[in-house]
Amino acid sequence: MTGPGGLPRYEITTPLAEAHIYLHGAHVAQFAPAGESPVLFMSAQSWFRPGKPIRGGVPVIFPWFGPRQGDASAPAHGFARTRSWAAESISQQPDGAVTVTLRLEPDEETRALWGEPNDWVLRHRITVGAALTMELEIENRGGMPFRCEEALHTYFAVSDVQNVAVHGLKNTEYYDKADGMQRKRQGNDAIRFTAETDRTYVNTAAACVIDDPGLRRRIVIEKAASDSTIVWNPWIAKAKAMQDFGDDEWPRMVCVETGNVADNALEIGPGARHVTKTTVRCEAR
Ligand code: BG6
Repeated sequence: MTGPGGLPRYEITTPLAEAHIYLHGAHVAQFAPAGESPVLFMSAQSWFRPGKPIRGGVPVIFPWFGPRQGDASAPAHGFARTRSWAAESISQQPDGAVTVTLRLEPDEETRALWGEPNDWVLRHRITVGAALTMELEIENRGGMPFRCEEALHTYFAVSDVQNVAVHGLKNTEYYDKADGMQRKRQGNDAIRFTAETDRTYVNTAAACVIDDPGLRRRIVIEKAASDSTIVWNPWIAKAKAMQDFGDDEWPRMVCVETGNVADNALEIGPGARHVTKTTVRCEAR
């Protein structure tokens, strides 16, 4: 099937859930468990164009997070989210969940952007069931170790970011991008949103919960082999500055991202694989 912009996508509809998965960026752009409103936020202003990231859903971030250190001209958040991935397999699990596996390998453009290393493969295994499970595998097929950052940059749909709380990160250290990258420590409290929030929490394997009284649900985000969690809401001014994001959309989303970035950047040895896993599910409140 094709979605907006003629981009090919899987449209999965089962008794358990509905989902859209684009080959562009291996991007999950919709996930709704049966009887539940969409769990992922999608901007109505998103581009759906080759070479441009999709705004919302779950962008795959690799091999660097944010701007590339020492190279201001490099694309923000790397190149995985703007490449067209190859379909590797699709299968149905005994419980009725559907697993789609997509693959990305180096080409001339990624070599030009990243240089060495140039012998790797990414696999993104997405399982759509009552929960959404995503497993991002990085394999080093070369003879030298390499360093990289990666994240599943998940945008969650919320009733109003000003009324939700994010639990799971108390007493955790973070870099505050909205305050000159100062290193701070979360207090003994949940995260609440009263201004632009752009934080990279490090050294945390904890699950997070978005408590949303307005939608009467909790979104539970569990993870494995991930030591960083990024929490982001652009608030008013940044929303206005983003061309592919509506000026009034910021209250309806919050990103809680599973990854390995900054202090937790990965080193992948020759022949080694690393799999970051996250599972997203809803609970009634
Ligand atoms: C977040 C970053 O993960 O992504 C923010 O922490 C950034 O700093 C945001 O603004 C969106 O990035 P982009 O490149 O998709 O506009």
